[in-house]
Amino acid sequence: MKSYKIALLAGDGIGPEIMKEAVKILKLVEERNGLQLELMPAAFGASAYFECGDAFPDATKAICDQADAILKGTIGLSHEESKKIPVDKQPERGALLPLRRRYNTYANFRPVFLPKALAHFSPLKPEIIGEGIDLIMVRELVGGLYFGNKEVGINDQGLRYVKETLEYDEAQIRQILHQAFKLAMRRKKVLHNIHKSNVLKSSVLWNEILDEVAVEYPEVEVRHLLVDAAATYLCLNPTQFDVMVMENMFGDILSDQGGGILGSLGLMPSACLGDEKAYYEPSHGSAPDIAGKNIANPYSMIGSVAMMLENSFGMPEEAKNIWSAMQGVFTDGYSTSDLSKPGSDVTMISTAEFGDKVVEKLSKMPKPK
Ligand code: IPM
Ligand code: MG
Repeated sequence: MKSYKIALLAGDGIGPEIMKEAVKILKLVEERNGLQLELMPAAFGASAYFECGDAFPDATKAICDQADAILKGTIGLSHEESKKIPVDKQPERGALLPLRRRYNTYANFRPVFLPKALAHFSPLKPEIIGEGIDLIMVRELVGGLYFGNKEVGINDQGLRYVKETLEYDEAQIRQILHQAFKLAMRRKKVLHNIHKSNVLKSSVLWNEILDEVAVEYPEVEVRHLLVDAAATYLCLNPTQFDVMVMENMFGDILSDQGGGILGSLGLMPSACLGDEKAYYEPSHGSAPDIAGKNIANPYSMIGSVAMMLENSFGMPEEAKNIWSAMQGVFTDGYSTSDLSKPGSDVTMISTAEFGDKVVEKLSKMPKPK
């Protein structure tokens, strides 16, 4: 019997409620596939900080170190609540970035996926969505401005100043580009390279390395696009994209825009892969405004489970089943009120009911061989 250890970092805001639904799915997957899953919950985020003064406590690190994969919920507080925590201990700087750095999860995959049947979630016109949106953003996750040197102080004129540096070396760029080319090979063999080489030297180096790496993937057609133009085309013509690759900050911004064209960040799961360890998380924040109301859609959290099964446990078929079970719940006419407005033509259900319906659908699907 295969057995896996999974660290569960539910986090803050809606994190715990959507994590509960992910656990329902994991229990079913365990049973259907004859696996043994050891689920190891651990404190993470602002909630951990308020418990013990550390958003990423040592006990959590120890659990993550042992885990075969890490499933993370959401972290963060409202702007006002954040002020109760010193800047460097806030969950983003104190937990999430250290998690990414600790396991060198440099490759972040963010699918922006909306089948035609769910086109009504999108703010884009049906003629723009056509047969549906299906692209993946590959974001470098442990370099660039996020992890470069930072300096704050008072300059010679007595003014407060800040200096943050965007740093990459060629090995970092090369490894993420290989990931993107490999993904392109498994998909449509078209790779959009998103950069800003008309201004940034980091993009000039990025593109030089890209030309070198591309030689190893002669079948992949590379299309170059400046990041600002990419933002426009994501709205005007998103179906031209299949795999897009970019550095950390560009990826942060464009992937939220990806959520925007789907209609909600709630539809954005993600995988963060390193060579040794991977973690999986919704691409969105902790939505403190709707936390505890049982209305947040767990799609991004359950989708992250699907990505975990595929990438960490070699179970692509079961992953596919989970995706179609979730889409089936929507096409049956159900939705949660964070995604759909009152009065729209859907039956509104809660977070927990959405999870139950996914369980019901999945349990009726043929088990993977
Ligand atoms: C994301 C988030 C994080 C990021 C925040 C929470 C630090 O926005 O995963 O996209 O900026 O990377
Ligand atoms: Mg972001």
